[in-house]
Amino acid sequence: MTSSYGLRGRAAVVTGATRGIGRAVAQALADAGARVCVSARDADEVGRAAAELGGVGLAGSVADPGHPEALAGLCLREFGRLDILVNNAATNQPYGPLMDADPAVWREAFTVNVEAPLRLTQCAWHTWMRKHGGTVINICTEGATHVGPGVGAYGTSKAALLHLTRQLAGELGPAVRVNSVSPGLVRTEMARFVWEPGEDEIASGLPLGRIGEPEDVARAVLWLASDAAQWITGADLLVDGGTQVRAARVARPGARGTARESPTARARPPA
Ligand SMILES: NC(=O)c1ccc[n+]([C@@H]2O[C@H](COP(=O)([O-])OP(=O)(O)OC[C@H]3O[C@@H](n4cnc5c(N)ncnc54)[C@H](OP(=O)(O)O)[C@@H]3O)[C@@H](O)[C@H]2O)c1
Repeated sequence: MTSSYGLRGRAAVVTGATRGIGRAVAQALADAGARVCVSARDADEVGRAAAELGGVGLAGSVADPGHPEALAGLCLREFGRLDILVNNAATNQPYGPLMDADPAVWREAFTVNVEAPLRLTQCAWHTWMRKHGGTVINICTEGATHVGPGVGAYGTSKAALLHLTRQLAGELGPAVRVNSVSPGLVRTEMARFVWEPGEDEIASGLPLGRIGEPEDVARAVLWLASDAAQWITGADLLVDGGTQVRAARVARPGARGTARESPTARARPPA
């Protein structure tokens, strides 16, 4: 059974792979035998991650007009193929009421969170996947299907990414499978403003009793990328420790978390 998780001989692009979920995903793919091509904005961090993973990297924002093509080109040049694309890089800005949202920051959010995944998929499709097959995994969020204070831009863009995932899955089969993974609250820099002030309280309100670690998400991405998921496309895999079913949780004596309050409703990101 475990042999179907093997990715030896395949090549993967992972955006936003210098820390957090993207870094754990790149590590899991490399550990399964894939050659990895990573990107992020900080050039030093990209160099360090690529070296540690035994892969290659490209510094830049996925929102830069030439970045998707350059990233796909690097993977093809170095490894001769591009079998797996993980669209992980994202922004949670602009944070706050939508009536105060700066149009330029709003546009940037949609460029990073929605347009870049599409452009990278186009590059992968035209240069490799249309002819040879492949798989695309978009990192969405558990929060994409409901609303919350302050996260209007993030949620709207991730809901669009969820829709994009399903649309592409229909358009690109049978050569290419397109799926998404939707994490709940995970211990990363992006979400530090949520978990750091109240981790115990948040964890006690979750059916599985803890917040997520990047590796929890990486295992789901690895499975979707592997042949074990060969008949799965257009799916969204929730990896949320039970966040979406926490309303059914019976409060235990001493437990401080309330069942209905969203973890993301409790804190604000740094300005
Ligand atoms: N953490 C959570 O609780 C949570 C929950 C649900 C969904 N997610 C999703 O999971 C994904 C990863 O988030 P994370 O929590 O792991 O974030 P993170 O720890 O902040 O890491 C983000 C990574 O993306 C890179 N990055 C950011 N903006 C980029 C850009 N414009 N172009 C290229 N790279 C960029 C960062 O490096 P540089 O800063 O050097 O660019 C870093 O490598 C995102 O799609 C996020 O929406 C996270």
